[in-house]
Amino acid sequence: MSREVRTVGVVGLGAMGSGIAQLAVEAGFETVGHEMAPERAEAARDRIAHFLTRKVEKEQLDPDARDAALERLRLTTDLSDLGGCDIVIEAAFEDLGVKHDLFRELGRVVRPDAILATNTSALSVTEIASVLERPERAVGMHFFNPAPLMPLVEIVRAERTADDVMEAAAALGERFGKTPVRCLDTPGFVVNRVLIPLLNDCVRVLDEAAVEPQDLDTAMKLGAGWPMGPCALLDLVGVDVHVHASEALYEKLGEPRIAPPARLVEMLEAGKLGRKSGEGFFTYP
Ligand code: CAA
Repeated sequence: MSREVRTVGVVGLGAMGSGIAQLAVEAGFETVGHEMAPERAEAARDRIAHFLTRKVEKEQLDPDARDAALERLRLTTDLSDLGGCDIVIEAAFEDLGVKHDLFRELGRVVRPDAILATNTSALSVTEIASVLERPERAVGMHFFNPAPLMPLVEIVRAERTADDVMEAAAALGERFGKTPVRCLDTPGFVVNRVLIPLLNDCVRVLDEAAVEPQDLDTAMKLGAGWPMGPCALLDLVGVDVHVHASEALYEKLGEPRIAPPARLVEMLEAGKLGRKSGEGFFTYP
């Protein structure tokens, strides 16, 4: 059985991992964040502090609550410091080899009843968990970008995930203020199975219908009720992240719509990755 979650570990503190760590500290959990380099870990702390301070400025959070949340965040570059965590959520680079190395090591350092969750968006949770001695303790917890704002978490049942692990992950998602949706470990799970080909179609339409990114975004916001346009969304997610996820899903599903359009691959090769590089479909200061 899963023990009550008190301490949360987060491995990889990029855009998704730092957002997940922010959710954990705001929800009152002692949180251990792991990054490869101390500068990257500190950058994540700064990012979390920035967003919490914005909430204070907008009177959505008490300054004492912000300070207490930040005090709950401990940073490390040593995976063995995650040994006391009741659940570890891995949000590292989307590469099966990288995730296998992490899961092998995490499997060694955590208690036998700890839960190992992965935030993978396009890899198989079952394959990631295959290196564990106890694959029944592994589960997918897939958050959406930006994690602190998007209200969904997909709770992904891998081939061997135990029922109590599914329920503990869903309960933790709720403690983070999210609505959990349980699903099977199929390529793209629920949202990305639909959203990735849809975004790729949006990019194809740019050339087919000769529209500018700004106009496509306006069209999808005003004509389809999207909260932000597809080009702005791709810039937010990262062209590199999206192309990589498209390729991973295309490899599994083989549907032409899921393959990344040439225009996106060219942007990736030119280093136009979106917000993170300062330029994608749009430019950012
Ligand atoms: N982390 C934490 N806080 C953040 C944040 C972040 N990354 N980004 C913004 N915020 C905070 C800011 O403090 C901001 O306030 P200020 O600008 O005053 O500082 C506050 O949130 C509100 O931000 P916005 O005013 O921009 O909020 P909004 O009401 O315009 O909504 C949105 C923004 C929620 C992103 C909305 O536009 C939306 O729903 N967009 C669609 C996003 C989407 O579809 N995401 C899924 C991507 S696909 C994916 O993630 C799957 C995958 O596997 C790749």
